[in-house]
Amino acid sequence: MEQELNNTVNQMPRIGDIAPDFEAVTTKGNIKLSEYAKDKWIVLFSHPADFTPVCTTEMSGFAQRKSEFDALNTELIGLSIDSIHAHLAWVNNVRENTGVYFDFPIIADIDMKVSKLYGMLQPNESETAAVRAVFFIDPNKKIRLVMYYPLNVGRNMDEILRSLKALQVSDKNGVALPLNWVEGEKVIVPPPKNLEEMQERIDGDYEEKVDFYLVKKSL
Ligand code: BEZ
Repeated sequence: MEQELNNTVNQMPRIGDIAPDFEAVTTKGNIKLSEYAKDKWIVLFSHPADFTPVCTTEMSGFAQRKSEFDALNTELIGLSIDSIHAHLAWVNNVRENTGVYFDFPIIADIDMKVSKLYGMLQPNESETAAVRAVFFIDPNKKIRLVMYYPLNVGRNMDEILRSLKALQVSDKNGVALPLNWVEGEKVIVPPPKNLEEMQERIDGDYEEKVDFYLVKKSL
């Protein structure tokens, strides 16, 4: 029985998995993930608790940069193990205090169902609050990138948006993105998988070439 509970709590969807489906109550009505935001990317993220300081800065960050997620064809879904009443009160309180409005659904995961499904509940960090997770889910509902942060360290909104952009640029152009890549910089031609591709990298007229396995080009 204890083993069963641990398995449920420790389930962690991995990169490449289809995002586990769920139905949930949110601040924007009920959501069933498999039917939500068809043909769009989804950034599903958790925060430990409403009315706490780091979480307030993070949620405000998502809200203030929502237009950038919109421009990347991406819907935001927040989550915490709080009631819908707490969510509504917090949304209203932050709006009254700062003018920032959390205009995206926030899941009230009071029964911890979604948190457990997504490995957001990590008992050695907290048995009652979700860690700061971010799941990047593509339009095929496949998980493409996962971030987990502890309770006491806020995330970096530039990095979340950069990662999302990088995934989309990689998909569209069949390229990889190097360390610290940001939009406009050169991208990496994927390493060769056979001798023919290796020769193509050796002979090709690329803008930057360290060797056949590290070749960059502009888009
Ligand atoms: C915070 O958001 O400030 C916070 C939430 C839970 C635990 C620690 C910090």
